[in-house]
Amino acid sequence: MIKVICVCGARPNFMKIAPIMKAFKENGGFQTLLVHTGQHYDQKMSALFFDELKIPKPDINLEIGSGSHAVQTAEVMKRFEPVVLEFKPDYVLVVGDVNSTIACGLVTVKLGVQLIHVEAGLRSFDRSMPEEINRVLTDSISDILFVTEQSGIDNLNREGINSDKVHLVGNVMIDTLLANREKAEQSPILEQLGLEKKKHAVITLHRPSNVDDMDNFSKIISAFEVIQKDLKLIFPIHPRTQKNLEGSFLKTRIDSMANLVLSEPIGYLDFLKLTAHSALVITDSGGIQEETTILQIPCMTLRENTERPVTLTEGTNKLVHVDTQDILKHYNIIKSNDFEARGAIPKYWDGKAAARIVEIIKSKFYESN
Ligand code: UD1
Repeated sequence: MIKVICVCGARPNFMKIAPIMKAFKENGGFQTLLVHTGQHYDQKMSALFFDELKIPKPDINLEIGSGSHAVQTAEVMKRFEPVVLEFKPDYVLVVGDVNSTIACGLVTVKLGVQLIHVEAGLRSFDRSMPEEINRVLTDSISDILFVTEQSGIDNLNREGINSDKVHLVGNVMIDTLLANREKAEQSPILEQLGLEKKKHAVITLHRPSNVDDMDNFSKIISAFEVIQKDLKLIFPIHPRTQKNLEGSFLKTRIDSMANLVLSEPIGYLDFLKLTAHSALVITDSGGIQEETTILQIPCMTLRENTERPVTLTEGTNKLVHVDTQDILKHYNIIKSNDFEARGAIPKYWDGKAAARIVEIIKSKFYESN
């Protein structure tokens, strides 16, 4: 048996770890230990996804909770080290780019255990993003790197990472989307919110550059005030954004928009149904740029850069400056196309990425043992 510790910690990790856990189980040659760091802990940010995506209950929850970057990273490291020492894995597998990813990665390599990074090589080239630091550092210490798109291969190559370690396997987040597409159709969310297909936009905002900076947030709200005259705006709110809005003048402006619906964070299946039948998505998330590409829904990403350029070159994504006029300009272009978007499906985004990952790990293990 090959022993692997799989790590997840924050909401976007859960959709990535789900198909990997399933593929390990189906393969049969692995003994896994699932560790949840507890970076995200609210029921609607964590447990809901385990239920919906049928992820096995974590074997261990480190329960680190929120904190500054240093505190969060240090706490994960302190609590993860004894787990690795006790389980003695052949590999630790981390996904994505959150603080839990780099924290567990560092512990792993310092204990001389092989590190696997899923979703390696993505680069926004913006070092003011905490995730960019996490990506660059995790990739530089990983032994096996699984990549979602060609840009990742090019970036790792440029950074001098030995190409023998790097594998283009596709996108595990898309494995999850394709596996749940039909099930999501059963969600009653459109009826619950009184929505007709293609008459609403879905909004998600949580990047510090958009929601901690009140000037930027205000520019975005000004655009929503116009767009809501055409489309109902559904805005499931991230806890970071929620906290920033509490007691702020922006909350009053949001509350006074008749056609904007604020909701708590919503589960995977409801969100997939909402998105799949929307006219438009406005986001600053990473993964949603990829999901809208598969769903062929126009996506405006309110950021200056993206670490997922294939969503621009092949998919339905568009980068838009955080500026009211720029948002409205792009909105009007999308509207003039009747909210239609057609793009190509990136290579290997076919629902089989996790199976490829597990096969490669197995063959690498038996090559070296
Ligand atoms: C984290 C990731 C980010 C990812 C995002 C998805 C890092 C550096 N950032 O950002 O890459 O896109 O998750 O959601 O790892 N909070 C709650 N309940 C929770 C979790 C958080 O109330 O279950 C609140 C806390 O006040 C916390 C704040 O949200 O301080 C931010 O949480 P944190 O995990 O630090 O960062 P995110 O903004 O969620």
